Amino acid sequence: MDVVAKRQEVIKEHVDRIRDLVGNSTPDLSMLEQVKDLLVKLAAHKDLFSLDDFPPPAADSKRRSCLYRLSEDDNYGFALYANVANGKVDAPPHDHTTWAVIVGLIGEEENRFYKKTEDGVAQTGGAVVEDGTGVALLPNDLHSIHIKEGGPVLNFHMYGRALEQVPGRNYWSEPNKEWRTFPAHTDIREGRF
Ligand SMILES: [Fe+2]
Repeated sequence: MDVVAKRQEVIKEHVDRIRDLVGNSTPDLSMLEQVKDLLVKLAAHKDLFSLDDFPPPAADSKRRSCLYRLSEDDNYGFALYANVANGKVDAPPHDHTTWAVIVGLIGEEENRFYKKTEDGVAQTGGAVVEDGTGVALLPNDLHSIHIKEGGPVLNFHMYGRALEQVPGRNYWSEPNKEWRTFPAHTDIREGRF
């Protein structure tokens, strides 16, 4: 079996187990921890998720990171992406309006967690996502993402709903001291090859 067919098979096997686990429920954090464990198992298939197959944006690109779609249900549920970055990334504190699980494969992605305050956000904690570790977020949970200059970063991002379908993600704009809304994501590359 070639690497593409093998990758599709292994992704389907793990997404099927996640779908069986979550079903139509609204998962709580303990269920999302189990989703995370399944994605860590998927991430262990290192030979199937290389930077050759999922290259980051070129050095001269305006983008520092991009998303490859790995799996998505017909109703846009259980959306799994490979997120790959090369260079400095600082995403502001934001929510997802759906559940989210991030698991690392290559490099380090720092996550900072926040609570809302009257005049913005206050950090409550943090975690570095790297090979074999991950974080889980409920729809209203807030995090920011920080990647340092240096080697490329590859990780899995899984959401309860595909990112093109969640137009109302909120982020805190520190320069403007106000909550703003991300437009729906439009630059997701096909990764189901
Ligand atoms: Fe996020």
